[in-house]
Amino acid sequence: MTFDFNRHLSRENTWCVKYDLRQAIFGNPNVLPMWVADMDIPAPDFIIDALRQRLNHPVLGYTFRDTQYHNAIAWWYKHRHGWDIDTAWIDFCPGVVSGLSHTIRAFTKPGDVIIIQPPVYRPFFSTVTANNRKLVLNPLIENDGIYTIDYDLLEKQAAQGARMLILSNPHNPVGKLRSRDELLELGKICVKYNLIIVSDEIHSDLVFEGNTHFSIASLSEKLAAITITFSSMSKTFNLAGLASGFAIIPNAELKAKYAAELEASGAGMGNIFGFEALKAAFTPQGEEWLEKLMQHLDSNWELLSSGLARFSKIKVRKPDATYLVWADFRRTNLTDDQLNKLLIHEAGLGFSPGTEYGHQGMGFQRINIACPNQTIELALQRLDKIAHYLE
Ligand SMILES: Cc1ncc(COP(=O)(O)O)c(C=O)c1O
Repeated sequence: MTFDFNRHLSRENTWCVKYDLRQAIFGNPNVLPMWVADMDIPAPDFIIDALRQRLNHPVLGYTFRDTQYHNAIAWWYKHRHGWDIDTAWIDFCPGVVSGLSHTIRAFTKPGDVIIIQPPVYRPFFSTVTANNRKLVLNPLIENDGIYTIDYDLLEKQAAQGARMLILSNPHNPVGKLRSRDELLELGKICVKYNLIIVSDEIHSDLVFEGNTHFSIASLSEKLAAITITFSSMSKTFNLAGLASGFAIIPNAELKAKYAAELEASGAGMGNIFGFEALKAAFTPQGEEWLEKLMQHLDSNWELLSSGLARFSKIKVRKPDATYLVWADFRRTNLTDDQLNKLLIHEAGLGFSPGTEYGHQGMGFQRINIACPNQTIELALQRLDKIAHYLE
């Protein structure tokens, strides 16, 4: 099978956040959008065909998740992530962010402490604070672009009565996959202090060759008993608009509490297209497409990193996983405000400012490289317009 990941596809006027909200977000409707985490690459034909097939029946009434849906998730996890999951552990979420919020409400009370590890995906901050829980930061330690966990601080925070840790693995925005040893060390602290782990693994299929993703819950029974894992087919196959994901919760008591919270909010049914898409995606065909996608993303990384080499004040490292490149502009000595203005208004580039991920992201920009090769080339040409700040 061949797939054309370089096909240009106009997304304008498709009620698309990435393109159609550029004026609102950047104050410039013409930026080259390399921000929000979806791809300028069509979902594979076999998924679109499955959705069309379902539309051949004109009634779209109430639905439920069938055995095939649960089996598809179990097959994918065993096959791609080496984790043998029981289909009874699976529940639904109407998107991972919504899942995080349900989990916070199911397992903590207002005022309880929840730990996150900035720089990290912005909704980790907002789901905690919007639910009136107390946010405690356990910032990653950066050393020459490598981000590690501050276990000592985590242990202190856990000992002071934190209830939950929200983990991003692979870590958005820094692209880091946690090794088995790192997860075990972190897990030891969580088990000791009975800290519930919420592991957001939405980018975990998008792993570059030579790296391995481990689900923390798969590493021991003790860890499985305290972990809620979230994922979706949405990042991998570019289906975020279907607002559909899933939770894996091996501990029956925790699963029942999560299910009760979903029921209380009336969000438990999901949508028929999300289920059809997942069943088409988590298949050998999906796997073949994903492998080609990763080769394409790799070619984009090569293009970007070789093109950026001429700008001595921008430093990048290849992410272990995700199509998000965490670019370090600190050597420019520009303030974030100055940098954003230059990128948006002089260069015409719409990256995600690093400060969106907490103040630990100062001086950084997150660049989404899930696009045709030509978009990367165009971005490099646009950077040339502000070259004298970057060289
Ligand atoms: C780490 C992480 N979690 C969750 C999401 C969003 O998930 P959903 O669209 O399923 O709510 C994203 C999207 O960028 C993400 O990067």
